[in-house]
Amino acid sequence: MLPGPTNVPERVMRAMMTHIINHRSDDFVELYTEVIEKTQQVFQTQSDVVALSSSGTGAVEASVVNLIKTGDKVIIPVNGEFSSRLSQMIEWQGANVVKLETPPGQNATFDQVKEAFDNNKDVKAFYVVHNETSTGTMVNYLDKIPDLISRNDAFYVVDSVSILGGIELPVDKWNVDVCMTGSQKALAAPPGISPISISPRAKKYMIENPPPTMYFNLARYFKYYEESKHTPFTPALPLLYAYREALRIILEEGLEARFKRHKICSDALYAGLSSIGFTPFAKEEDRSITIIALNYLEGLEDKTFRNTLAQKFRVLVAGGFGNLKGKVFRIGCMGEVNRYHVMRTISAISSTLAMMGYKTNTQEGLKIAEEKLEDL
Ligand SMILES: Cc1ncc(COP(=O)(O)O)c(C=O)c1O
Repeated sequence: MLPGPTNVPERVMRAMMTHIINHRSDDFVELYTEVIEKTQQVFQTQSDVVALSSSGTGAVEASVVNLIKTGDKVIIPVNGEFSSRLSQMIEWQGANVVKLETPPGQNATFDQVKEAFDNNKDVKAFYVVHNETSTGTMVNYLDKIPDLISRNDAFYVVDSVSILGGIELPVDKWNVDVCMTGSQKALAAPPGISPISISPRAKKYMIENPPPTMYFNLARYFKYYEESKHTPFTPALPLLYAYREALRIILEEGLEARFKRHKICSDALYAGLSSIGFTPFAKEEDRSITIIALNYLEGLEDKTFRNTLAQKFRVLVAGGFGNLKGKVFRIGCMGEVNRYHVMRTISAISSTLAMMGYKTNTQEGLKIAEEKLEDL
């Protein structure tokens, strides 16, 4: 139940048990074209897609180095570790960064974003972390951003590393120019592949203004794909096999069904864990569906709590980041998450509380969760 890497189905793990093929062969073309086509379906885009052999940070960095130049103005909401890192990368490019800072657990409102656009007509790009994994917040107005973008003709870039595949994010419909994610989160594949989509106008810009980098130079990926359906560099072949299998599973389930399952499991976890005494860290309207961040109960010690959960119940959850260490813990609700994981997690957490001397009501927590799970 980590916020990534998440559980990987056996079918996906087995897909890696195959020969290492020549990445300049027809076998590779077959593998990679299926990967690209299915990634486009999951991103709901007809634009170019690249499946980078790297962790999510690779795709995030690629989105920055290929679009941002010295002196460019960029607007970005910042309220946690991943949005801070992203804004740092943008600053390192020499950009003029307009940060919309809000306290952790709380998002900048749409009106604040709109005001930033109004006050910065020369903005080159709007970057946003869809789901702030460090604090369990999620931005709910991504569909409204295109209005602002079109007025200023800015690029729209979404880091959806910890949520794409778990919630609606139709890249073309919402005019997202660059969108990136990581294989190890809601896509339920092993870590190591980071897909990124690039709209035609962002692609044009990247080709005309290539960055002085080699590995993350996206123009090179476009060229190789167009010419031969290859990647410019040796890809992580076993991971591509795994990722392809994970994509097949996602599309067999269907995006709608998958989004619904994530939402229901998330509602059940929030409700069940609230009923045994926890309060969510994030403001109600900003709460993430894939990362359930909960405040620790008074005196409940982080290490002992998580070690007991792991050792006695084999349930893994994550602690807090930076200042939130020891104050919150985080549960990943994504990828393969289902009724079984929800019920087992609530039961294990409640039993751990009891073992550590806290009053709890396991039956009540499970009953409330079960009610929420009815529609699954
Ligand atoms: C929102 C977000 N962006 C970027 C990353 C970086 O991904 P990775 O650790 O795969 O490099 C993460 C990782 O958790 C994330 O949650």
